[in-house]
Amino acid sequence: MPLKIFITGANSGIGEALATQYAKQGSILGLVARRKKELLTLQKKLNTKVLIYAVDVTNIDQCRWAAEDFMAIHGIPDIIIANAGISSGTLTENFSDIETFKKIINTNLNGVLNTFYPFIEPFKRKKQGQFVGISSIAGIRGLPGAGAYSSSKAALINYLESFRVEMAPYQIHVTTIAPGYIKTPMTDINNYKMPFLMPVNKAAVAFIKGIHKKKKFIVVPWQMKIISYFMHILPIPLWDFFAKNAPRKKRNL
Ligand SMILES: NC(=O)c1ccc[n+]([C@@H]2O[C@H](COP(=O)([O-])OP(=O)(O)OC[C@H]3O[C@@H](n4cnc5c(N)ncnc54)[C@H](OP(=O)(O)O)[C@@H]3O)[C@@H](O)[C@H]2O)c1
Repeated sequence: MPLKIFITGANSGIGEALATQYAKQGSILGLVARRKKELLTLQKKLNTKVLIYAVDVTNIDQCRWAAEDFMAIHGIPDIIIANAGISSGTLTENFSDIETFKKIINTNLNGVLNTFYPFIEPFKRKKQGQFVGISSIAGIRGLPGAGAYSSSKAALINYLESFRVEMAPYQIHVTTIAPGYIKTPMTDINNYKMPFLMPVNKAAVAFIKGIHKKKKFIVVPWQMKIISYFMHILPIPLWDFFAKNAPRKKRNL
């Protein structure tokens, strides 16, 4: 039986690479993003059954509609990957960044809840299924100049942890992915050196391997796993010392 996979943020970067890899395995796909033209191009390119949904993940009604349509046609999916996300540098001292904060949190955190919600009851009934959330190593500690992005991804890590324990009694798995730097349109705009920058297709293969092993927490590339461990345990004075000179994301939203 082919796997049925539902992916948000599927028309670019990591989502597109995941869709491409799963299509090679013959999976049935439900692909979500806002820009329809890019979704249509991808649908034509992939040699498998693909349903596309031009949906904004910040809108729960649109998410519900897409989930219900997919399930009416193909049945309950095996894996839901909440990958849609946005990024921008932010500084709280800039009034206009307050709106950017809200937008980032709404997409990167609430968008994940909206994506998962319609599938919870069907997964519970089936006593099977896997939810995957794409966070970031930027969520391990607060990065200066990226308060909105860092806090959205930190909140997502903690949310996914709560959700994982809540879903365990129903044999439903929850996987958190915290990528390091992956080469996508999101990182293409960064004008600083990104250590261990990984090609997106290589990252997608590694993510899929971890997802299929039902890993609870995946960090890719492996070098970032070591770095994220030290980021996590670094005492506050040392974190502040190193973080003050960290490169800052562009304010682009
Ligand atoms: N690249 C990295 O180094 C890296 C590292 C750590 C974590 N991540 C995370 O990985 C995920 C994918 O990032 P990426 O690098 O592949 O970026 P990307 O190429 O910019 O792709 C982002 C995707 O999200 C979709 N999206 C954004 N807002 C949406 C919304 N409101 N509703 C529906 N879809 C939406 C975009 O499509 P539309 O614009 O058409 O909606 C696009 O498909 C993000 O959550 C990002 O934070 C990336």
